[in-house]
Amino acid sequence: MLGTAVQAAAPSTIQLVALRHADLAVEDAQAVERVVQRERPDWIVNCAGYTQVDRAEAEPDAAQRVNAVGPANLARAARETSARLLHISTDYVFDGRARRPYREDDPVGPLSVYGRSKLAGEQAIRDILPRAHLIVRTQWLFGVGGPNFVATILRLARERPELKVVNDQHGRPTYAPDLAAALRGSMWRRRQSRSRASTRRWRHARRRRCPALPGGRSTACWIARGTRVSWDLRCGRGKRR
Ligand SMILES: NC(=O)c1ccc[n+]([C@@H]2O[C@H](COP(=O)([O-])OP(=O)(O)OC[C@H]3O[C@@H](n4cnc5c(N)ncnc54)[C@H](OP(=O)(O)O)[C@@H]3O)[C@@H](O)[C@H]2O)c1
Repeated sequence: MLGTAVQAAAPSTIQLVALRHADLAVEDAQAVERVVQRERPDWIVNCAGYTQVDRAEAEPDAAQRVNAVGPANLARAARETSARLLHISTDYVFDGRARRPYREDDPVGPLSVYGRSKLAGEQAIRDILPRAHLIVRTQWLFGVGGPNFVATILRLARERPELKVVNDQHGRPTYAPDLAAALRGSMWRRRQSRSRASTRRWRHARRRRCPALPGGRSTACWIARGTRVSWDLRCGRGKRR
């Protein structure tokens, strides 16, 4: 579901390579490496997941392969190619006992196989790719292309005169296209902040003192890319270093 929304939200100015499960199984390390080496992406967005929360209790190995080994493979491939990884995780990494909305730095404590497998995926990404990842924890996704709480309630409301629904669960239904737009914004902001950082480095270089002028006072000296080329605009003496 989310993968489809991410695809739809992609701006036309980027080249998007969308892969289905049939194209790539994330637990296959060699296949992941092959694809990432071939495509050389700036960003990898991982919407793949073993998402059958209840079934995971009976299939812990399958959940671990997709939700933990898969993200680790993607992180390694990203590290090899200097790509960044945007990974989708879940509120199931928490124990659900909080009486207020969770914050990013709240202690984790998954109670289920699914939650533990997703947390293992997060941890692998943090270990392998500490500076080049974004992990977004979401919950109760709904949208086109997948069973979800909202669709189920709408269907049952049409079929039954009266509904019985658990009342001990609290969550925020999240519209998949809204999340996809927010993910796009996060990736874009990262790009902007990276270019702002290089502008700051550049400005800092411009302010360096010119050794060719008395007292080294001039700020009209620019030094491109660190120290390799220095040019004094005021005294007219160009210097290559
Ligand atoms: N849905 C929610 O409420 C919710 C809440 C919190 C977090 N999340 C997370 O958000 C992400 C997207 O969830 P979603 O709701 O979009 O789930 P989804 O509709 O079940 O999509 C998961 C996708 O992963 C693919 N997949 C499964 N195993 C794979 C593998 N080994 N290799 C590659 N692809 C594989 C599935 O393909 P096949 O169907 O062909 O196997 C499917 O296309 C997941 O990481 C999930 O844990 C979802």
